[in-house]
Amino acid sequence: LTAYLTLDPAFRVAPVRRRTFGTFVEHLGRCVYTGVYEPGHPTADEDGFRRDVLDLVRELGVTTARYPGGNFVSGYRWEDGVGPRERRPRRLDLAWHSTETNEFGLDEFIAWTRKAGVEPMMAVNLGTRGIAEALDLLEYCTVEQGTHLSDLRVANGAKEPHGIRMWCLGNEMDGPWQIGHKTAHEYGRLAAETARAMRMVDPALELVACGSSGSSMETFGAWEAAVLEETYDLVDFISCHAYYEEHDGDLGSFLASAVDMDHFIDSVVATADAVGARLKSKKKIDISFDEWNVWYLSRFQGAEPPRDWPVAPRLLEDHYHLADAVAFGGLLISLLRHSDRVTSACLAQLVNVIAPIMTEPGGGAWRQTTFHPFAQASRHAAGHVLRTEPVSPSYVTERYGEVATLDAVATHDEETGATTLFAVNRSVDQPLTLTTSLRGLGPVRLAEATTLSGPDPYVRNTADAPGTVVPRPNSDVRLADGTLEITLPPVSWNVIRLD
Ligand code: AHR
Repeated sequence: LTAYLTLDPAFRVAPVRRRTFGTFVEHLGRCVYTGVYEPGHPTADEDGFRRDVLDLVRELGVTTARYPGGNFVSGYRWEDGVGPRERRPRRLDLAWHSTETNEFGLDEFIAWTRKAGVEPMMAVNLGTRGIAEALDLLEYCTVEQGTHLSDLRVANGAKEPHGIRMWCLGNEMDGPWQIGHKTAHEYGRLAAETARAMRMVDPALELVACGSSGSSMETFGAWEAAVLEETYDLVDFISCHAYYEEHDGDLGSFLASAVDMDHFIDSVVATADAVGARLKSKKKIDISFDEWNVWYLSRFQGAEPPRDWPVAPRLLEDHYHLADAVAFGGLLISLLRHSDRVTSACLAQLVNVIAPIMTEPGGGAWRQTTFHPFAQASRHAAGHVLRTEPVSPSYVTERYGEVATLDAVATHDEETGATTLFAVNRSVDQPLTLTTSLRGLGPVRLAEATTLSGPDPYVRNTADAPGTVVPRPNSDVRLADGTLEITLPPVSWNVIRLD
């Protein structure tokens, strides 16, 4: 198989958005407890944050973290999680059928984001709560001092305001599983009024209205249109959520999951622009793809919820293999390719729960296969995303019809001269030779070519062997006369760096 590509720095999509490399910390399973927070762990710092996890979060290159949910937020009272720990109530978490101890809350999360060097992104509860509680939370977080709730924050030990710029107006309100699930019209009105009131406190906030929980939702498209009709002038983003898994051993379709993500993004952009046109607005609504990942959701849906309301149970602890990481890399390529409108994204989630980082209580922390594409993309995507128009062989899939075997995107940093090509070979059994014309770049040198691949697409990393699936040098590469030729193994994620 052979594919062709031309890289030219003149053909730009948009700047690389640092917020593309966001993630998600939900009160769910062991993401918080024994994930980011475990007082008594050998690596715990003075706040109870696991240093081994913090180190991996920095290595992963995370830029933002969404909190506290997810489905959890739709039943959450943020006040439960602030103030002296001994006075914090234990509550039923209906979303995940667990007990929430509230040992970790808002102020701990903000302290953790500062240590991790990530931007916090907060969701307000529009399931069981509304405008008043969102305003209270905002007052607690943003007012310097001199009001009841800002003084409470200061008394709780957080002298400086929390400085949260991005706020999600609820979570997945289109989903019948959501506590306080609403019709598009009901939600659109509530989101608009909440946004209007929040902007009275701070007009510069960046607000995200809930879009669809997936492109297969029955209300997909109609939901976005109805919500944006109500909120267009009041919000900056509409959200998208998408999870992918391999169904019935259909690896060919699974590796092409980005085809669905491309379609999802294009459809939401078209819908948002149609509403904007109808409203005669010059404003453009961006996408916050604030939940995306590989998730074996069908397994979770088939499982019984915990019966005895456990604290921090093992939930959604998917264990990723090589092919998962390759499909995941395709999703990253799709997000980057749409950097003109997808200006924020969150990998769901960060630790233990469908996560790139795994931990054992009292034990070690290790990298799943999916850790690597994310870390490489966050580290090496820089400058502008380039428009690439690959000429690729194709194959036929059950789910998406005919799809390209090669998926690729590139970035170019004018300041440093660095160019990075991210490429996935979706073929389940054939290597792909990729010939790339680099003439537009001028003289360049091959800095590094790595591949995440191997003879068995179902091989995994484990706590005992965390280095089984890692990027390795690809020596099957030639650069001469402005042309790069590289062989991409079957089922592979590849990063080629030029400078
Ligand atoms: O990320 C896991 C869950 O998936 C989130 O809580 C919810 O928003 C989505 O359905």
